[in-house]
Amino acid sequence: MAPRRPIRIAPSILSADMGRLAEEIRAVEAGGVEWLHLDVMDGHFVPNLSIGVPVVAGVRRHTRLFLDTHLMITDPSRYAPAFVEAGADGITFHIETAADPAGLVRQIRGLGAKVGVSLNPGTPPAAIRGIVEQVDLVLVMTVWPGFGGQTFMTDGLPRIAEIAGWLRPDQFLEVDGGINAETAPAAARAGADTLVAGSAVFEGGDPGAAVRRLLAAVTAEREAHA
Ligand code: DX5
Ligand code: ZN
Repeated sequence: MAPRRPIRIAPSILSADMGRLAEEIRAVEAGGVEWLHLDVMDGHFVPNLSIGVPVVAGVRRHTRLFLDTHLMITDPSRYAPAFVEAGADGITFHIETAADPAGLVRQIRGLGAKVGVSLNPGTPPAAIRGIVEQVDLVLVMTVWPGFGGQTFMTDGLPRIAEIAGWLRPDQFLEVDGGINAETAPAAARAGADTLVAGSAVFEGGDPGAAVRRLLAAVTAEREAHA
């Protein structure tokens, strides 16, 4: 049976209005979130560019939320120090990019950040088995990374459940891609405790209300199956 831990929403600013970022952050803070998800893309590992170190530093000046930094870049070891220096609290790298995953985990931890490992939809969970005990967080992609607003891939659900079975209670299981009021309950039921949501939070006009709606959807489903 999957653990029934409290659920947190981690809004992804990829879908926020970047020209009003501080206001967007205040809106999700008002919705009660503790984490903010920052998507860093390099145009190599994924076919898109997004934000980098200066934006993380700017966000840091405006909030005390946990900055959950998702590096979709080919060389996380090279850039992790700059992101931590800028104020990232957690650094998540992709297993597909890591030549020496255990060494990378040690490096990031040595910088004083929490460490996450992520896997793409096409990567077998077994690829992270060797380091899963060393990380603070596993991030399961339920879309191919690179763009917000894609459709949740339901074949991610058994992958979430498999990984949930490996984790200790102090480790987080995060899901990223296509989370909305319909898919969030299924991801939580499979064992996820942290749900990244970009378009579902920032594209409806009231980010704080959208966060509360997502949490309510998960809670309603849990109560229905209690
Ligand atoms: C995708 C990013 C996601 C993205 C999610 O590459 O890693 O964090 O912002 O966006 P939605 O919630 O719109 O699928
Ligand atoms: Zn992400």
